[in-house]
Amino acid sequence: MATCSAPAKVYLFGEHAVVYGEPAIACAVELRTHVSVKPSRNTSLVSGGFRGRVEKNPYVYEALKSFQQRVPLKSGVSIRIVSDVPSGAGIGSSAALTVALLSALSIEFGAGFSLSEITEMAHGVERSVQGAASPTDTFVSTMGGVVLMPMREKLKCIHCGIVIGDTCTPASSRKTATMVSRVAGLKKAYPEIVDPIISAIGRLSPLGVSLLEKGDYSGVGSLMNINHGLLESLGVGTPLLSSLVYAARDAGAFGAKITGAGGGGCMVALCDDSTGVAAGIEGAGGRAYMVDVAREGVREE
Ligand code: PMV
Repeated sequence: MATCSAPAKVYLFGEHAVVYGEPAIACAVELRTHVSVKPSRNTSLVSGGFRGRVEKNPYVYEALKSFQQRVPLKSGVSIRIVSDVPSGAGIGSSAALTVALLSALSIEFGAGFSLSEITEMAHGVERSVQGAASPTDTFVSTMGGVVLMPMREKLKCIHCGIVIGDTCTPASSRKTATMVSRVAGLKKAYPEIVDPIISAIGRLSPLGVSLLEKGDYSGVGSLMNINHGLLESLGVGTPLLSSLVYAARDAGAFGAKITGAGGGGCMVALCDDSTGVAAGIEGAGGRAYMVDVAREGVREE
């Protein structure tokens, strides 16, 4: 049996603008999905309370298909998933699952895939399930750490608290594709207003890189607050997301913003006092996760 785990991610800067080629900074976080695989007579999946056919989970189904196109299997495979990553919350649960599964299959069946092969295959799986997907989630989940996208450049690690606040909005009401097309609609209707907002978001990342290098988290937090305002102006905020963002700031966070597509999902705060910020987020009706940077991406357990 082989078991691999892969981490979730947050965006410190640049979601939505990255769709238009602007830079973004993403960070792998220590919330992991563990996947175990072993050869078996039949192919089956156990995940949470679910026990049954792999077709029930499109990411598992597509990942297995993609693996078998490269390495035909002589037996079935039994797959078990255990995850700390809230599903469909915009912090990369599907990427963590896909990356961990492909790595576990690669080890168990002797494929010997490199990390870049895992990244590319996992991105292909996300594209076939979702229709479109940015390479950020699968790259960050595979490689870990803090990463400047689309350059795929690893940055210095973050040494302060990171708290994620989940609004627990149903994933069906806030699909990434819907939020991306909402921004596209606004951009098409008001290009002279929206294009400069997108460029302004893009300019935050290089500034963020130099502040992160210096360990100036108060500066990084100020830029995150600006990024939140710009995302709000693109129409991807919600009242609850903003309540969690303001609660985190009131509890002393350096800065707080939406992370991911918005329309619900999660926000992220950088802070000194993670416990206080988490209490603020929970007091405002969110579910808080105090996390560290996942310096390591996918790994064998
Ligand atoms: O909510 P998530 O983790 O799927 O992030 C979406 C990020 C966007 O920039 C809005 C879209 C993308 O594909 O980059």
